[in-house]
Amino acid sequence: MKIVAYGIRDDERPFLNQWAEENPSVEVIGNSELLDDETVVDAKGADGIVVYQQKPYTASVIDKLGEYGVKFMSLRNVGIDNIDADAIKRNGILVTNVPAYSPEAIAEYTVATLMALLRRFKNFAHKEANGNMKWAPDLADELNQMTVGVYATGKIGRAAIKIYQGFGAKVIAYDIFHNPELEAEGMYVDTPEELYAQSDVISLHAPAVAENEHMLNDEAFSKMKDGVWILNPARGSLIDTDALLRALDSGKVAGAGLDVYEDEVGIFNNDLGSFDNIPDERLKNLMKRENVIVTPHIAFYTKKAVKNMVYFAMNASKDLNETGTSDKLVKF
Ligand code: COI
Repeated sequence: MKIVAYGIRDDERPFLNQWAEENPSVEVIGNSELLDDETVVDAKGADGIVVYQQKPYTASVIDKLGEYGVKFMSLRNVGIDNIDADAIKRNGILVTNVPAYSPEAIAEYTVATLMALLRRFKNFAHKEANGNMKWAPDLADELNQMTVGVYATGKIGRAAIKIYQGFGAKVIAYDIFHNPELEAEGMYVDTPEELYAQSDVISLHAPAVAENEHMLNDEAFSKMKDGVWILNPARGSLIDTDALLRALDSGKVAGAGLDVYEDEVGIFNNDLGSFDNIPDERLKNLMKRENVIVTPHIAFYTKKAVKNMVYFAMNASKDLNETGTSDKLVKF
């Protein structure tokens, strides 16, 4: 069995090598290039491919995989929003993802960002860089005094809820699907509007499906409390950036923690040499604000998560080859 793993980063390679040593019956090729029209040829002769990338898996690439007889594609991440679903169906390719490499990694990151915002870390860092060790005017807020509205209660949302509760916050939640345990605790509100109206903090953990695109827009912000804090470690497309900038300008939104951005592809996880070289004015506008923390999609980036992404995806590819199925199959 031959598995070609695309886009293998230096931080993933030791885990890939370790997996290969533990699975000597599998020929493992670790390709550092992403899967695209040029590199797809390397999949010729492979029984399965293992991939992770933020850029699209286009129809032309997927058709080529079909032409080469590659039937199994295993993602090392959760999100499937960058895959051409029609092409996958047309070519009869089975896709797996890694739905839970570490929900705690994302949850811990989200709450860490909120704490940094509430305790004004960025403001103090700027002041200290100029030798200003004064307290005022950066009086902080306490999470234990707040109501946190968790939008979507999948694995990551639920891991975040546990941590918010550990800080003593009141937590309410919205999701179309109700988790029985949270339901029993009476945590759910019936509509997003109720969540917006009651929350001091809104913590987004929803996937990038069409219905969620720009779910936080002018109208949604207008239904929120004045001075609400927004956290988005999920997908950039959930927030209408122009509307967020307006809400920050008006003070409707007190601050935001953004690990994702709607136009992040090509910018995040690249060294652009200087702040001025960042080719996106809206992003720079957000980054310059003391009450906004922007990070380049790093919530997942922990040792445990990276190892699990490699291991779970490689195991899924092997399972697909050996049994024709996997418990991580994605439905298109
Ligand atoms: C995902 O798993 O879908 C993520 O968003 C993390 C990715 C950057 C590896």
